[in-house]
Amino acid sequence: MHSFRKSNELLEREIKVSPLASQTFSKSYRYFCKGVAPSFMDYGKGCYIYDVDGNKFIDYMCALGPITVGYNNPIVNKAVIKQVKKFSSGSLQSELEVQLAEKLCQIIPCAEMVRFVKNGGDATTAAIRLARAYTGHDLILMSGYHGMHDWSIGASENNKGVPKAVCELTKTFKYNDLADIKAKLEENKGQVAAVILEPIQSNGPDNGYLQSLKELTHQYGALLIFDEVVSGFRYALGGASELYSVIPDLASFGKGMGNGYAISAVVGRKDLLQQIEEGVFVSTTFGGDSVPMAAALATISILEKPGYYKHINKIGTMLKEGIEELIQKYMLQNVLSVSGMPAHCGIAFDGCGNLSYLDIQSIYSQVMIENGILVFAIYNLNGSHTEKEAKAYLDATDKAFALIRKAVDANSIEGILNGGKVDPVFKRNIK
Ligand SMILES: Cc1ncc(COP(=O)(O)O)c(C=O)c1O
Repeated sequence: MHSFRKSNELLEREIKVSPLASQTFSKSYRYFCKGVAPSFMDYGKGCYIYDVDGNKFIDYMCALGPITVGYNNPIVNKAVIKQVKKFSSGSLQSELEVQLAEKLCQIIPCAEMVRFVKNGGDATTAAIRLARAYTGHDLILMSGYHGMHDWSIGASENNKGVPKAVCELTKTFKYNDLADIKAKLEENKGQVAAVILEPIQSNGPDNGYLQSLKELTHQYGALLIFDEVVSGFRYALGGASELYSVIPDLASFGKGMGNGYAISAVVGRKDLLQQIEEGVFVSTTFGGDSVPMAAALATISILEKPGYYKHINKIGTMLKEGIEELIQKYMLQNVLSVSGMPAHCGIAFDGCGNLSYLDIQSIYSQVMIENGILVFAIYNLNGSHTEKEAKAYLDATDKAFALIRKAVDANSIEGILNGGKVDPVFKRNIK
């Protein structure tokens, strides 16, 4: 039985001075069972994290994507420490900036030029601005999540605080549905600056989807942007454009590039990026921060080694197939489903009888934590997860699904939860 005394004390203190006691929605206590889950991390090593109470967990969140080669990786640490002793943000550029920009141009198919920023949302926003400047059009068609900036969050149901006029400039389209995007391009003919999407959603693109999307987008005079903030570095070094051999005009990368150090980039066609030299505004104080660049170069040197993606896929396939088998074992197909690619895959929870999807998710979350697994509904892998950790994940999942079966049979969660319920800030429409 874990104790979360110190985590809970810190949570009570931080909640008074910082909303949600976390700087990222999906890392906040609201996404776990309050009181019986860790909130504060002491340190990480490989695929393990240690919380402030000294509890050890196998980490399947990987900081929501950034950890690609494992916490505290000696090669990354060495590069970072070397640069820390020089400078991080300086009055001039670091040589590392040249090396990293050249490296990205070498490994990312669409990258002829690179502009560094900090968060994924900065990179997608920069891409949108470049596309609007180039085409002279304002409208954006998007599919997926692209960060907190007005142009994208304005088109979601979480758009409080975004001016209506801005919300109206972005419309959404359905992934893997060419008829839908064609209809939207036709409806908004002559007005669309860019079609932006997460190129890998759910089980990935249908055969030929991305290529046809590119052709359609160009036919209507718009630019194609791949938001590779999740897919970049995670499924393949060059992201979805490498995997599916479709080269967009622009792309955004972030998360996995620096193994946890904050760095992102907008990359793409030279003529588009060169607009920055003509004053298209993409500029941040910390864009050239050199410690994350040292981390990114070291991280990429590990990702480039033969076998990295083969390993991630092997472990991911074990997990995905294992989850599918357990759903069948407990006959939970009506409340649980799996979707995703092996390297980044998730369980979706549905309600049933008296139980809401959040009741079911809470049971899952509680049991996984009890069994030493830190995971959100979606798992991420890093290079240091092995079959041993995959087996531990599946053993915990077996126990979680057994308890879900029991709750579904009893049509009640009474007596099952030891703490609070998972209570995300943004809830899906409850069935
Ligand atoms: C596909 C995608 N794009 C953009 C973003 C925004 O990245 P950030 O939170 O680093 O701004 C995210 C974040 O989860 C993402 O998943």
